[in-house]
Amino acid sequence: MKLDIIKAPGHEFNRPLNAKVFVPPIKSQGIKTKLVPRIREVVQWDENGRWIEPFMGTGVVGFNMRPKQAIFADSNPHIINFYIAISRGEITPAIVRAYLESEGRLLARQGADHYYRVRERFNQTHTPLDFLFLNRAGFNGMIRFNQKGGFNVPFNHKPNRFSQAYITKIVNQIQYVFDLCHLNDYTFVCQDFRETFKLMQADDFVYCDPPYAGRHVDYFNSWNAQDEADLFAALANCEGQFILSTWHSNQYRRNLTIPRLEEAYHVITHEHFYHVGAKETNRKPVLEALVSNYQPTTYRPQSRHYQQAALFETKAAYQQDEE
Ligand SMILES: C[S@@+](CC[C@H](N)C(=O)[O-])C[C@H]1O[C@@H](n2cnc3c(N)ncnc32)[C@H](O)[C@@H]1O
Repeated sequence: MKLDIIKAPGHEFNRPLNAKVFVPPIKSQGIKTKLVPRIREVVQWDENGRWIEPFMGTGVVGFNMRPKQAIFADSNPHIINFYIAISRGEITPAIVRAYLESEGRLLARQGADHYYRVRERFNQTHTPLDFLFLNRAGFNGMIRFNQKGGFNVPFNHKPNRFSQAYITKIVNQIQYVFDLCHLNDYTFVCQDFRETFKLMQADDFVYCDPPYAGRHVDYFNSWNAQDEADLFAALANCEGQFILSTWHSNQYRRNLTIPRLEEAYHVITHEHFYHVGAKETNRKPVLEALVSNYQPTTYRPQSRHYQQAALFETKAAYQQDEE
């Protein structure tokens, strides 16, 4: 198949636009899988410096960019411990397969009782393998912690979750990250974004995907006006290039920071649909924004590829993508 490759002056690192998007082993509510093709178009960076992600979440964006050098940071220690364990070789594809086969058998036999036993165990021991299990057997792949820092996502009521095919899918996702970490120079660090910005150098490329104010607040993940002000100040002082992901508007509201961002930077919008409840027809549009401190010359507005994806995406396809 002929790959659709973009190339612009100074854009030495060519990214095939229609390359398959890799889905990482950890899921979360704010995962940016759907935005990866658009971000690939907008990123313009010659890879002399490092890829820096102060809010890595699942890592889906950075892992799809496949940088040679990267710093992946997040305030959630469990996400970071999970990827540190892979990069140190403490978690391997074979270890994950054996672990999920054995836990999956117990889940099939004991259902919710087993899920809640693992959740209790994880809240005492914090082992990365249990974090993976809970993330994949918990409700909607959510990551949420109570006020004491305990993981509190309920069971997804699928005791037969860990079929051989599903385990193989997860093992392949682990293999992908394992290979990336062992072929390249990646650092995973649990820290506040203000600390990550102190590490920046002029040839680094920063991708920022902060929490959206008022959404998904929990023990490790909250966002207030001071955070927003500090992030905007850090971006204004950023010597390198950056992309900031944020929301632009939905049916009911507009993001009031957009006009300010438009004055200082370039803003590209991208329509995205998400599903609410069980009905196939219940699709809500949201306009996402990618804000950059450089003029992207490689992105193609209104590309047919995206319009079609948005128009024809069924709920089943949407969910499968996130798996
Ligand atoms: C919207 S999510 C990032 C999603 C990610 N781009 C993905 O596709 O999976 C925001 C992330 O920021 C982290 N976070 C929240 N507050 C933070 C802070 N003050 N410093 C660093 N990370 C923070 C959260 O733990 C969460 O993983």
